[in-house]
Amino acid sequence: MESDDTVRSLLEYLDRSPSAFHAAFRAASLLEQAGFGVLDEAEPWRLEPGARYVFTRNMSTLVAIRIGLSPVREAGFRIITAHTDSPAMKIKPGTESVSAGTLRMTVEVYGGPIYHTWVDRELCVAGAVVVERDGRLQRRLFEERDPLGIIPSVAIHLNRDVNKGFPHNPQDHLKVVLSASVEDDDKSASSDGGFMRNYLSSKLDVAASEIVDFDLYLSDCSAAAVIGREGEMIVSGRLDNLAMCHAAVAAIERAGARAHTQIVVLFDGEEIGSRTFHGAASSLLRDVVERVVASATASVGGSCEDVHRALARSAMVSGDAAHAVHPSYEDKHDEHYRPRLNGGPVIKIDAGRRYTTTSYSAALFAAVCAEKDVRLQRIISRSDASPGSTVGPIVSTSLGIPAVDIGHPVWAMHSIRETGGAKDHPMVVSALTGFLESELSWR
Ligand code: CO
Repeated sequence: MESDDTVRSLLEYLDRSPSAFHAAFRAASLLEQAGFGVLDEAEPWRLEPGARYVFTRNMSTLVAIRIGLSPVREAGFRIITAHTDSPAMKIKPGTESVSAGTLRMTVEVYGGPIYHTWVDRELCVAGAVVVERDGRLQRRLFEERDPLGIIPSVAIHLNRDVNKGFPHNPQDHLKVVLSASVEDDDKSASSDGGFMRNYLSSKLDVAASEIVDFDLYLSDCSAAAVIGREGEMIVSGRLDNLAMCHAAVAAIERAGARAHTQIVVLFDGEEIGSRTFHGAASSLLRDVVERVVASATASVGGSCEDVHRALARSAMVSGDAAHAVHPSYEDKHDEHYRPRLNGGPVIKIDAGRRYTTTSYSAALFAAVCAEKDVRLQRIISRSDASPGSTVGPIVSTSLGIPAVDIGHPVWAMHSIRETGGAKDHPMVVSALTGFLESELSWR
């Protein structure tokens, strides 16, 4: 069944994307295999109608484009956004230290993880490493599936109150243990980042002295799994937001060419506020819009006005995980807005506009879903609570285009292991494909 293949492909994507770098790299590989040509931001772009392209910025944000069959000033853009990064523990370089017979390293908290879910698990390491070879600096992707270490909890006998809730201090309580057979006077393991330098040197096949620095993140070593009576639940790290990344990639791969130009952007940096040179608050998407307009109209002289005409005919779907109602915490949701796992994609609505959705954009997206036979759910937070946010409002505000925020329902958002619906994923892919192909006007 096609939907089984879609879920299998998602599980593989989750397992092979332990960091934002890998999420972008893997998505780019999938699209290249599907025939997308690779663009370089530093080279001239000559874009052909109907042709498909992909590139990354910072190796961790991905852009995929299918050029429309009509001039972009006349047909505009259909844009889908998602994010490649997830909350995690980031290794603090040079913090190896010896105590009580162990070698440990300190982590920095990346985004907003649920701390207690990170303890007592085998943790792997992945990210990017800066290497100096023959006098030149280069950055290499790094991933190791064998566990690097563990953040052990303390026994209940030593903390009788632990089940009343324990506030982990990330500096003191979340150090990752790398070895438990170290002499207290062993300085070689802890001096000058010695452990990580040697570890990376052996894995990357370069000299320890050639390891300059790194951006490395811990992740759960366990593979993504499908569980439940009918295999209807997906359990994995990073469902927020790799499930949406995977769906957006599948959608632009499947969508047919249309008059308008289709764009998928998977931004890094959402979990930390998007203010990076490759994040949603950067120039990236406007750069792409301007270059597509310039290239696609080069023969007739693309103008600044063409950019504005194209944007005025554009629309966007911002895709990010949504809170499914939790059976033990039903009252955390407004009683009228309780989206369920496997109930289909969720339209996210907020009066304070932490989501871009308006009644009009919601109705347009609902029309797209109706055509694809995709069931929709809606969420508005309890009136005494406020929701999280996402890249939607940032991009919609800076480009000045209408948008809708949608999500795939999940439990335990920002846990090291989240649960989503296996039936939802094919519906999300179908809805996004429908959006990319839809010629409905959003004006
Ligand atoms: Co998210």
